[in-house]
Amino acid sequence: MGFSKKIQLISTIDVYDLERDLPETDRALLKQAKRALDAAYAPYSNFYVGAAVLLDNGQVVIGNNQENASYPSGLCAERVAIYQAGARFPGIALKAIAIACRTDSYVIKEPLSPCGACRQALAEYENLYSKIRIIMKGETGKIYVAESIESLLPLMFTAKQVKKQANHL
Ligand code: THU
Repeated sequence: MGFSKKIQLISTIDVYDLERDLPETDRALLKQAKRALDAAYAPYSNFYVGAAVLLDNGQVVIGNNQENASYPSGLCAERVAIYQAGARFPGIALKAIAIACRTDSYVIKEPLSPCGACRQALAEYENLYSKIRIIMKGETGKIYVAESIESLLPLMFTAKQVKKQANHL
């Protein structure tokens, strides 16, 4: 058997019991995310997601999931918001994203934790600019706040690695 050692990847998030305990800017952003989910187009999953991105210039850009009869062509709320921010405000840092959700089938008691592809999209902009706060909530229950995408995506793949590989060619 080969020799190896284990390392621990530690990630930390803040947990709030109540929305009113959140810092004011987080609470306001979460409100916008909740409002955004009403315009989600999710006739296939009936799972509605809203996202609100706060930019460094104070603007808030919202997104919601947009589904498609050809299922993989749909897009998550987070990426709709993140890419809309990139398209409308190029060069402006993303400071925070709030994510809210609702479904017709049950009461969501756990915070919505963004999918892997949306985490990777957040990682791109965090590495380009600065840390992005991620505020996550279900319909009821606790609220999770990560101060950086690093907490949700340890060992992330970044542009630095692309460049390193290119240098080796
Ligand atoms: N969805 C999001 O919008 N964000 C996530 O982080 C997870 C999933 C959407 C995609 C699809 O429209 C529906 O939720 C069910 O997966």
